[in-house]
Amino acid sequence: MTTCTALADWRRLRTSPDWAGRSVGFVPTMGALHAGHAALLARARAENDRVVLSIFVNPTQFNDPGDLARYPRPLEADLALAGPHVDAVLAPEPAAFYPDGYRYRVTENALSTTLEGAHRPGHFDGVLTIVLKLLNVVRPTRAYFGEKDWQQLALVRGLVEALLLPVEIVACATVRDPDGLALSSRNRRLSPLARERAAAFPAVLRTAASAAEAVTALREQGFDVDYVEDHDGMRLGAVRVEGVRLIDHVRL
Ligand code: PAF
Repeated sequence: MTTCTALADWRRLRTSPDWAGRSVGFVPTMGALHAGHAALLARARAENDRVVLSIFVNPTQFNDPGDLARYPRPLEADLALAGPHVDAVLAPEPAAFYPDGYRYRVTENALSTTLEGAHRPGHFDGVLTIVLKLLNVVRPTRAYFGEKDWQQLALVRGLVEALLLPVEIVACATVRDPDGLALSSRNRRLSPLARERAAAFPAVLRTAASAAEAVTALREQGFDVDYVEDHDGMRLGAVRVEGVRLIDHVRL
């Protein structure tokens, strides 16, 4: 496994005889890897000749500077988890991806302003901008995204279609703990008690008769609810437990 922190090193590797002309699977992440990421990497490994993982805590998709500062960055553990699955890791400094100081950005005007976007203004501009940069730099055959971030996945698909990008977007099912909580890098910030309570979130999304009933039931169980909405055959929600923000979705 080769780790590249400079874009020039990655570009040299990408054009080397060992990579050129081969299929490349790409898993973009912000690190703090868990079994959900491992599932994306395993699928990329099975479907491509080469696999590359990016670890980049993208500052432009955080609305809250405190959330950005607290975001876990366990690089050594991430490299250990990724090792069996990947040929290369791209882990650059923020300056490498933002030479323009974020003067140029990608904006979507419809889906990105609803649901998560309504509660986190500008979040999806940051996501779409970094995803476009990553795809330009990595030049993968296929890129793997989790269905857990359903709205992100839909917007990335839209980006690829709108900008005619030569990459296949592969959606992978959400990985859950045995009690139903979707795996997320943020889960590790929950206290043991909050972690136990958090399992009620997907259970309520699944069982409530309507989105409004889900909001009431979640509030009764002590969650701060940002939203629960039924959209396009899915029920999507975001809540906070002990200040830790969790998102999830269930198919209706
Ligand atoms: O889903 C994530 O981890 C991030 O939003 C992504 C796609 C890596 C962009 O920073």
